[in-house]
Amino acid sequence: MCGIVGYVGKQEAVPLLLDGLKRLEYRGYDSAGVAIIRNGQIAVQKSTGRLSALEDRLHRSPISGHPGIGHTRWATHGEPSEINAHPHLDGKKHIAVVHNGIIENYLELRQKLESTGSKFLSQTDTEVIPHLIAYELDHGAKNLLEAIRRALQQARGAYALGILSTDNPNAVYAARHGSPLIVGIGDEEFFIASDVPAILGRIQSVIYLEDGDIACLQPSGVSVIRPDGATVTRDAVPVTLNAEAAERAGFETFMLKEIHEQPRVLRNLLARHVSPDNRVSLRDFDLPLGDIQKLDRVLITSCGTAYHAGMYGKILLESLTGLAVETDLASEFRYRDAKLDPRTLIISVSQSGETADTLAAVRAAKKRGCKTLAICNAPGSTLTRESDAVFFTEAGPEIGVASTKAYTAQLMAFALLAIAVGRARGDISPSEELDLVRDLRAVPDAIVYVLDRKEHIKAIAGKHHDGPSSLYLGRKFNYPTALEGALKNKEISYQHAEGYAAGEMKHGPIALINEYLPVICICTKTADEVYEKMISNMKELQARHGRIIALATDDDANMRAIAEDIIYVPAARDCFSPIVNIVALQLLAYYAAHARGTDIDKPRNLAKSVTVE
Ligand code: AGP
Repeated sequence: MCGIVGYVGKQEAVPLLLDGLKRLEYRGYDSAGVAIIRNGQIAVQKSTGRLSALEDRLHRSPISGHPGIGHTRWATHGEPSEINAHPHLDGKKHIAVVHNGIIENYLELRQKLESTGSKFLSQTDTEVIPHLIAYELDHGAKNLLEAIRRALQQARGAYALGILSTDNPNAVYAARHGSPLIVGIGDEEFFIASDVPAILGRIQSVIYLEDGDIACLQPSGVSVIRPDGATVTRDAVPVTLNAEAAERAGFETFMLKEIHEQPRVLRNLLARHVSPDNRVSLRDFDLPLGDIQKLDRVLITSCGTAYHAGMYGKILLESLTGLAVETDLASEFRYRDAKLDPRTLIISVSQSGETADTLAAVRAAKKRGCKTLAICNAPGSTLTRESDAVFFTEAGPEIGVASTKAYTAQLMAFALLAIAVGRARGDISPSEELDLVRDLRAVPDAIVYVLDRKEHIKAIAGKHHDGPSSLYLGRKFNYPTALEGALKNKEISYQHAEGYAAGEMKHGPIALINEYLPVICICTKTADEVYEKMISNMKELQARHGRIIALATDDDANMRAIAEDIIYVPAARDCFSPIVNIVALQLLAYYAAHARGTDIDKPRNLAKSVTVE
């Protein structure tokens, strides 16, 4: 999704804007642009493609000055082109605007403005905003802030805006409604950005703007007003992340770094929420576990990878607690007439906390009186602020677009939550809790073992990466692992991949099996009948000459007679095995993508934070 950076201060704006935009590249984009004020006039440079193209353009035709705004655009209205790239200007070139989100009534506004003489250049929804502000300035608004406020009263939809104007040449204005935007406070300088990592290293504190806020950043400070014009005070929160946290630390990509960070992330979560005597006690968790006893059911809603985490959460909560749990994709749930009441707990899962569909699902559930719990990786995000309770996954900034450490942290969050709820409800005994915690504590070391075998996984990926398609199969706890393994593969290697519940094979997909299609079968040993069933499913594939790649428990001799290739992982308790197994599949996808030469950290068409519906 689009990325925004703005700067107010004494330095040259362009290098700072470009630096910030580079750090937002992970959000996904197809064109970029910057605008600055120099000698009371607005200067703009834009380019399609990567930021390096914009840098080349700026090298050939430099612009300099301050303040400034910059933008990376992920096309929604109008193709990726220079004309459609932001910033957009009003007719007199006095106002420049960058925007993330969608102005839903832009056609209506555009027609109105065109009827009064405005000339539009682009196909974007954004361009109505500078024209609307200019219109309001020409029609009685007493100053720029008032014009922005009046303009935004007419706009419907979602927006984060950065605005520059020759009317106040020292300021950047910012407005937020439904799309993320923060204000960063540095040493005699101020920033706006879509996300904190964009400006890490230059700021000491952050103001998280609320929906409806309009902020004015000037050398003298930051002021914020509400849609009715009233001034509000927004507290600045100290920044605890350091710039180093957003760097690659020597790995060839952010994704590989983040895959390797997983043992540390999970150990930290265990250290935080498990006491030295091996009892789960959720720290800083503001949903009384006693309240969970009064619930009739739990509904988990999320998108993409976070949805797979939710599927795992459902199976785990059902197995460790007596709760009735269901899951739904947030994009489906928000339009469903689900029967909900105050005895339903809605658990949303999101690394970014800004996913438009997940936010809408949570808002819809809140309207129906449900309690809401967010499992989220982004402190200060909209989801965390709008939910009744939050479980922070604390995985640190995830820059690779394909989610890895945020996912395993979500699985760990569900594991800790399920044990805590199971104990609080009396569904599991104190000694069962001790057993579970002991096995959960073994997970980070098991992941280290998987990471140590990456060269073997790379060799397998190298052998199978060039086919057109692959299939991922799993059952029970590892059915979501199969879906997530397939999603990782398609996201970064662009190889078509399908995840399936292995028991469903004979109901259709088995028709695909031939001697070319790689089938990744997750068949780690379990304490119940699932392992035997999975072996039977693999035999069915073998009988049809399927190319089986098994993900199996160390020393499982059964596999050698069935699989062409085997990725061994350490033994883990059934219900925690997905946290270990997925790491092997992340590496498999990673090295397939590597062999196929894709842009791993920034896969085509994807965005890290999906802030539009
Ligand atoms: C993850 O690899 C994906 N890029 C995507 O499916 C993601 O999980 C989904 O968009 C949800 O995002 P969220 O966790 O920020 O809500």
